[in-house]
Amino acid sequence: MSRLDQVEESATLRIADLTNELKKRGKDILSFSLGEPDFDTPRHIVDAANEAMSTGKTHYAPSAGIPELRDAIAAKLKNDNAIDVTGKDIIVTPGAKQAIFEACFGVLNKGDEAILLEPSWVSYDACIKMSEAKTVWVKSNEDGSIPADFGKHITKKTRMVILNSPNNPSGAVLTKKDLQHVADLAVDHDFYVLSDEIYEKISYGEKHYSIGSMIPDRTITVNGFSKAYAMAGWRIGYVTAPKPVFKNLLKVQQHTISSPTTFVQYGALAALNGSQDCVTEMVKQFKARRDVVMKGLKDIGLECPTPEGAFYAYPKVDGNSEKIAEGLLDAGVGLTPGSAFGPDSNDHLRMSYASSMEQIVEGLARMKKYFANQ
Ligand SMILES: Cc1ncc(COP(=O)(O)O)c(C=O)c1O
Repeated sequence: MSRLDQVEESATLRIADLTNELKKRGKDILSFSLGEPDFDTPRHIVDAANEAMSTGKTHYAPSAGIPELRDAIAAKLKNDNAIDVTGKDIIVTPGAKQAIFEACFGVLNKGDEAILLEPSWVSYDACIKMSEAKTVWVKSNEDGSIPADFGKHITKKTRMVILNSPNNPSGAVLTKKDLQHVADLAVDHDFYVLSDEIYEKISYGEKHYSIGSMIPDRTITVNGFSKAYAMAGWRIGYVTAPKPVFKNLLKVQQHTISSPTTFVQYGALAALNGSQDCVTEMVKQFKARRDVVMKGLKDIGLECPTPEGAFYAYPKVDGNSEKIAEGLLDAGVGLTPGSAFGPDSNDHLRMSYASSMEQIVEGLARMKKYFANQ
């Protein structure tokens, strides 16, 4: 079997494509399947990239990124996350996704196991498989916390545990106690933790902790600009990794993408160095939408733990999520079936609330009608 035979097409992109196809054919569908902020990138970030493009920042950049940006990222990790690094420990990547691929490809080998907490964002499993390693699924508690018996899934082959907090698709935020639990196991059993913190800034009150501050020698921390700064299409993110694996990640980057787009890096620099009010404003709007979504789901009668971060709600449904998602499409709303997020998640749906309040209110009304007729 070839390496890619086991990798499935991204289920979230598939439903988005299907929605677009139906829309093109004239069907009125409100899409709640997207994983990107609906806001435009803040003006000062666009201006900085324009300026860079106009002043000749159009050549290859150093493979790990421009030094100013690497330094600014290191300062951010130190200030916000208590991760003590310098610019030399950072690789700027074209999106967090590339960083995650590099981390898996750079660390995992044939025969290794990587533990994924279910429900899980769609691309981790694919990255593990492309690295010829095996995914071991461990179901999170319904509130998204780490199960008390997590340690029993660790074997001699466990080389990596992937954490994602705030979580896509559930919006759950891991507590310091949860992270300490995994950190202690990483030390006892000698594995790496890949911590995907892309939704760090989109959080509604729970404090964000970085496991990289607890076990820096064993943590690969990934973050990016797509969600916090509404920069999904810019393709820009970053990773910091312990020295023994950093060089592997850099090799993958050097031989695949060379370097992230040069003028885009100046936009990212402006995002970090500029006022953070734009982030606060977007998070305020996401929180107001979350509250409306929670109220609407309750009204429909769907059970759903309150998401503490990201911009997704993850209600439980009775029956096959794919069938229900198809039925909902027919009723004019696009949601992602839980089956996209792990082998044992077919009893959930993901609803992204990165849409206008108006669309959310109308979408919830369509959902209510659909579920009332089941
Ligand atoms: C959990 C998670 N990690 C990583 C990514 C990829 O982010 P980027 O746009 O920076 O590649 C996404 C995007 O949907 C995500 O939801």
